[in-house]
Amino acid sequence: MKALILSGGTGSRLRPFTHSTAKQLLPVANKPVLAHCLENIRDAGVTEAAVIVGTHAAEIAHVVGDGSAFGLDLTYLHQDHPRGLAHCVQLAADFLGDDDFVMYLADNVLADGITKAAHAFAAERTDALLLVQPVADPRAYGVAELGADGRVHRLVEKPAEPASDLAVLGVYFFTSRIHRAVAGLRPSARGELEITDAIQRLADDGAPVRAERYDGYWKDTGKAEDLLDCNRELLGRLPGPTVLGDVDAATTLSGPVVVEPGARVRGSRLVGPLVVAAGSTVTDCTVGPYVAVGPDCVLRHSSVADSILLEGAAVDGVPALYHSIIGRWARIGRSADAGHQLLVGDHANAEVAA
Ligand code: G1P
Repeated sequence: MKALILSGGTGSRLRPFTHSTAKQLLPVANKPVLAHCLENIRDAGVTEAAVIVGTHAAEIAHVVGDGSAFGLDLTYLHQDHPRGLAHCVQLAADFLGDDDFVMYLADNVLADGITKAAHAFAAERTDALLLVQPVADPRAYGVAELGADGRVHRLVEKPAEPASDLAVLGVYFFTSRIHRAVAGLRPSARGELEITDAIQRLADDGAPVRAERYDGYWKDTGKAEDLLDCNRELLGRLPGPTVLGDVDAATTLSGPVVVEPGARVRGSRLVGPLVVAAGSTVTDCTVGPYVAVGPDCVLRHSSVADSILLEGAAVDGVPALYHSIIGRWARIGRSADAGHQLLVGDHANAEVAA
């Protein structure tokens, strides 16, 4: 089985971060979302994968390279514009040939892996195997209507009035029959070639199309609050305290705290789960729970909870920062007077205490 990894798209709901990087490279628990995806694919026994990239092709290649660090052999395919998931299958037709493949939207995090589903697909070889999970508001997803046997009867992309609460996850297993179904598709109302339409075609043609419930943790990290949710979940799975950095005696630690080698902590209270990456310094702070401090950050005289700090972020003299994502080399400081002084980038979002 091969893999087709979709890592294009504009990431408009994650601006301003996606002005300068791909949404799939944003970190959860200090690891890019794309790295979580590549590890799941490798753990499912796949070795050959194509990555569809768009405007942020260079940054993606810089981070994952030829894939060897993940045990994968990666081929890059360029998509000029987000033209839909079925268009990605068309682009990869030569690469995929007649092989079965898993198509993986790289902004989806499946914290419990895809190995079980990959085994089920290998055993049954239905022409499509989808993963589904009930969600509170299915209108933002592809929605599946299933028969009692798990067969897919109907799939609708982002329905205004969903007929079920089963959202389709961004991981699909296909045989080569999907190539016939994507050929000749017409763009949907949003102007894209929808994979849901292609799968519906398969089902209409009588091909076996099955869905399986994913029991593990799943999140489409398309929005800031979803990234933060995912960050909490993955930090919550940290095994236990691992303090390899330089932490002084005046610092107290509780819960699963990870301080990487090369990080420095002075006079602080660290409340796990949290991780502090190499090159970062934390001085006179309360940090945690649920904080991922990226590499080369500087935290001083502050209190930070439930947040993601990207590389080089600096927080100085801020009493209660929470539920926040701070971009690369961004700085949050304390103003000299009662007002707020902000330099907020394009499409950024800031909420200050009244
Ligand atoms: C895509 C698919 C949708 C699926 C979702 C899962 O939507 O079109 O069917 O439910 O991924 O993450 P998108 O996130 O591209 O809007």
